[in-house]
Amino acid sequence: MYSAAVRDHFANPRNTGSIEQPDGQARVDSPVHNDRVDLMIRVQDGRLAEIKYRVLGCVAAIASSSMTSVLATGLTLDEALALTPEQVAEALGGLPEGKLACSVLAPEALRLAIADYRARQP
Ligand code: FES
Repeated sequence: MYSAAVRDHFANPRNTGSIEQPDGQARVDSPVHNDRVDLMIRVQDGRLAEIKYRVLGCVAAIASSSMTSVLATGLTLDEALALTPEQVAEALGGLPEGKLACSVLAPEALRLAIADYRARQP
């Protein structure tokens, strides 16, 4: 049912955890289940130097959070804002139809964390 990349990122999620004194952070709750992504970013020279997250959710949500952090680390903030759930799912080798909704949590949390960062700037 799941691709090799999904199984890998589920078994070994990258960049999990939290950042002490993050530059931006956000929480996204799934409207459908009790799923949640808490995501934090550290910004350096206009780029995402570090992304950490905690995720409560299914295999697809965990793998998508992991892949979002991998794809977005090192990007400029505008590049990261352009990252779509479809790109995350594609990088994971695809997700089953019914699981695409789970892949929106992390990119949405990333967008909100960047907005939080920008709102904090003087
Ligand atoms: S996160 Fe709830 S089913 Fe995937």
